[in-house]
Amino acid sequence: MYTDLEAELHDLFWNQEDVISELPLLEAFHEKKLSLEIGCGSGRLLLPLLENGHPIDGVEISADMTKLLAKNANELGLGLELEPEIHTCDILDFKTEKIYERVSIPAFTIQLLDRAGFEKTLRNVHDFTSNDGLLYFTSFIPWAEIAGELTEGDWYDDHQAKLSDGSTALCKTKFSINRLRQTLNRRHQYSVSHPVSGSSKKKQHRSTQDLQWYTYPEICLLLELTGWKVKQLITDLEPETATHPDAHLLTVIASKI
Ligand SMILES: C[S@@+](CC[C@H](N)C(=O)[O-])C[C@H]1O[C@@H](n2cnc3c(N)ncnc32)[C@H](O)[C@@H]1O
Repeated sequence: MYTDLEAELHDLFWNQEDVISELPLLEAFHEKKLSLEIGCGSGRLLLPLLENGHPIDGVEISADMTKLLAKNANELGLGLELEPEIHTCDILDFKTEKIYERVSIPAFTIQLLDRAGFEKTLRNVHDFTSNDGLLYFTSFIPWAEIAGELTEGDWYDDHQAKLSDGSTALCKTKFSINRLRQTLNRRHQYSVSHPVSGSSKKKQHRSTQDLQWYTYPEICLLLELTGWKVKQLITDLEPETATHPDAHLLTVIASKI
């Protein structure tokens, strides 16, 4: 769950990292059909989709994130009183009377769930998606950690950015990996330091993330087990290019069996 400084700095760090944005893929996927984004965060992707005419609701576990979403929506002049519906709850507990035509889980959110949670989510989504509806999700394979290109157990500077008041935001990360179980534990230390007295930290926050990664054959099996089949695989967010055998990012679009 993203709270406190991790929530505040999420979009800043993410936008810096995005070599290719996921937004064009989501624009093509949602097709202005009745949609839901799972793990919608502060609306980094949901709000531009909404601005471009996609009717899209959101589910987000972190109240800090949905507060940021409401603030960002207000700044854009989008009233969120009626539409979209933003549900502050765990996707594992999410229930709805609506039937969605498109459900997206971008930005690696599925990897914050364990295997059982991912399976349960696939079953839940199946229940509230129309028969001709589609599911979209993106996950990553942490090749740098798997191959030992990053040193396990050492703190490294993961993200750094300047804030508008001249402060520096930093995220230090330390990881441990279980290659057998395909899990990656990441500990993060967030800080914002003042430009003049650089050593005195204004704000600090620590968090831990347990990430699960999946190979493509496993994804196919999990989908089949939960009533889905792969319609399209996109690697490294490049739909025009043939799928890459060493891909880092796997985007799957699935239809109901
Ligand atoms: C990597 S962020 C992506 C946020 C947003 N989709 C974006 O791209 O900016 C993952 C989001 O999923 C949320 N999340 C994690 N576990 C969740 C769960 N079980 N149910 C709902 N949201 C969850 C986190 O709080 C976080 O906001």
